[in-house]
Amino acid sequence: MSAIQPHGGTLINRLAEGQEREELLAKAAGLTAIPVNNWTISDLDLIGVGAFSPLTGFMNQDDYLSVVDTMRLKNGLVWSIPITLAVTADQAASLSVGQQAALVGENDGVVYAIIDIESIYKVDKKQEAVKVFKTDDTEHPGVVKLFDRPDTYVGGPIRVLNRPKPEKFNEFYFDPSETRRIFAEKGWRTVVGFQTRNPVHRAHEYIQKSAMEIVDGLFLNPLVGETKSDDVPANVRMKSYLALLENYYPEDRVFLGVFPAAMRYAGPREAIFHAMVRKNYGCTHFIVGRDHAGVGDYYGTYEAQDLLRSFPAEDLGITPLFFEHSFFCTKCGNMASSKTCPHGKEDHLTLSGTKVRALLRDGICPPPEFSRPEVAKILIEGMSEASKAYSI
Ligand code: ADX
Repeated sequence: MSAIQPHGGTLINRLAEGQEREELLAKAAGLTAIPVNNWTISDLDLIGVGAFSPLTGFMNQDDYLSVVDTMRLKNGLVWSIPITLAVTADQAASLSVGQQAALVGENDGVVYAIIDIESIYKVDKKQEAVKVFKTDDTEHPGVVKLFDRPDTYVGGPIRVLNRPKPEKFNEFYFDPSETRRIFAEKGWRTVVGFQTRNPVHRAHEYIQKSAMEIVDGLFLNPLVGETKSDDVPANVRMKSYLALLENYYPEDRVFLGVFPAAMRYAGPREAIFHAMVRKNYGCTHFIVGRDHAGVGDYYGTYEAQDLLRSFPAEDLGITPLFFEHSFFCTKCGNMASSKTCPHGKEDHLTLSGTKVRALLRDGICPPPEFSRPEVAKILIEGMSEASKAYSI
């Protein structure tokens, strides 16, 4: 087992199995059904396997308010993002505290979980947006999602009865109990987690490898849940990660496993959340570079790093590794950051997302100093398949 403690000290397991599962499934058939979308299904599954430890279910009102206001659960543990179950006013009217309900996939009718309802409460979504996303601008992809949901939340512990089945890349789905075992088997005492919703370009590779110089292993943990429509789809990204690992990483120092959560784009608060979750997967270190989990100009370049620094190290229980904005310097002839390069901007290779998209759309690989040719090739193919512009 990995030496690092899960957040809160216990790896939560809310998966019902065997006889108990059969009984709960039979019971669920007679319960009021709450329809759940893919986002909520991914949340309930991540609760079930302990990725969101110490959460045992969807947040009750007291935890919700505490998280929104203070970035801590009411028991004091650091937690920065509300994990909640939203229901319409009509649905809420058919539910009561003290009862159970079945969480049923809105598209497939699968009973994913049973919830013991402990609270039903109305929230101020504008307040939630301003606190969590630091904006209520409806151009912000996380705010749009929040405002699209109803404003009544249902809280309480869950038992997971069925798990979502990945359409592709099944072999890269690992639960925290599995990654902990795997890291231990590899003999890794220190593991750095890397979150990404993008292809791994040279800057990502540089900060990963800088971290790899001081830890035993890298857990490349791309987020593959819901992302905004102009992000590169997970399937294309997975192909690009595999090509990159095959060509440029030592096999025994890297482990690739997906993070099947939805992207919130909550910048600094999401960086805290990402770090806590990677601790649950067994990471001892976590990479936070520039504008982690950011979008547009909503967050300062190093705001996520500053927020992480504001928490006592023992409250985080995982060591963040901070990296400055990285680039290829033509004078240095290597990847660098302002911490290691004395040259000016004119010597730094920087490509805007728009420029990279334009190149890829025209079937042209960006310079190898920006993106490995093997990666660029896969992005070009992926782009022509979907014939749409991705944000790179
Ligand atoms: S994120 O939304 O998942 O954070 P992205 O996949 O681009 O987006 O970033 C993954 C990680 O790499 C984050 O920690 C981010 O801060 C970091 N990062 C991305 N690009 C750079 C860069 N050029 N220099 C330094 N860090 C970077």
